[in-house]
Amino acid sequence: MRSRITGTGSHVPKRVLTNEDLEKMVNTSDKWITERTGIRERRIADPSEAASDLGAVASKRALQNAGVKPKEIDMIIVATVSGDMPVPSTASFIQSKLGIKDAAVFDVNAACTGFLYGLSVADNFIKGGNFKKILLVGTDVLSRFTDWKDRSTCILFGDAAGAAVIEATRKNRGIMSIHLHSNGNLWDLLYLPGGGSKHPPSKESLRQRMNYIKMKGNETFKIAVRTLEKLAVDTLKANGIKPSDLSLLIPHQANLRILQATAKRLNLPMDKVVVNIDKYGNTSSASIPLALDEAVRTGRVRQNDYILLEAFGGGLTWGSALIKW
Ligand code: ACO
Repeated sequence: MRSRITGTGSHVPKRVLTNEDLEKMVNTSDKWITERTGIRERRIADPSEAASDLGAVASKRALQNAGVKPKEIDMIIVATVSGDMPVPSTASFIQSKLGIKDAAVFDVNAACTGFLYGLSVADNFIKGGNFKKILLVGTDVLSRFTDWKDRSTCILFGDAAGAAVIEATRKNRGIMSIHLHSNGNLWDLLYLPGGGSKHPPSKESLRQRMNYIKMKGNETFKIAVRTLEKLAVDTLKANGIKPSDLSLLIPHQANLRILQATAKRLNLPMDKVVVNIDKYGNTSSASIPLALDEAVRTGRVRQNDYILLEAFGGGLTWGSALIKW
């Protein structure tokens, strides 16, 4: 038995923040941001919207596309680093918003790799046989944790949510393999120091701007390129398929140059790579399900296509999934 994605959905907030808008906020330029990252604009959640609000809309769309009723869902997994509250889980809020009376629900934190960690959890619960229909959501509202005075990070992030319904199949398709990795020694390349048990919220922590994401961008970039190239090659090797067998690469959208480097290493033309970073920036846990949903909706994914998902993020974490659609 394998598990497979039977429906996808996504949602982005209405408000668009362009590079030109950022030029008025920090010392940057549209040219620098476009050339260094590929980002032209990103979406910013309304103050009334939290991670579960974006996630619930994406979930409803995924359920509808899968033809699954909310009451049939027996597990909800939410990948997020910007959940509504530390307690309860954002999955609990999404459960409530969807009117699901009973299910196992919890959050997963693996930063930008969160959706793939969640996919692995879902895959194993489905294969274990005790759960039949799992809703996996990636949702992040990083704008709340972005230092709008720090030009090295505020140009990167955006808010979004994506979701997928995962069910069992007896056919030889679906999720073929998932590969997860982490190196906790590199935690200080990307972190958010304040608000947890180490630095609880206080006047002092706010004064030190600890409630915002810190990133050593250039070091992270170099490791990301090396790691993702190797991960992609290893994942294909593990499944005995060649890069030319791939129909699509759906990477986490952190930087266009990272995407191009992975495509080059695999000798893949860029038209086989899903790129939407120009419109949404880095949406963390939402990035892969948002790109996957766009690819499905625009007819870029067909039955039996090989699709490679891959991500890299805080932790540092990285991971990949090969799917035969
Ligand atoms: N506008 C103009 N200049 C800028 C800006 C800006 N917004 N930001 C930085 N600069 C300057 C720097 O100050 C530096 O100037 P200097 O040479 O005078 O010191 C120069 O531009 C180069 O800075 P770098 O940091 O070396 O630029 P780089 O080419 O590495 O690009 C970036 C920075 C875009 C952040 C890149 O390093 C990157 O994408 N890193 C990887 C991010 C990533 O993958 N993160 C993991 C996933 S995220 C998650 O898990 C939530």
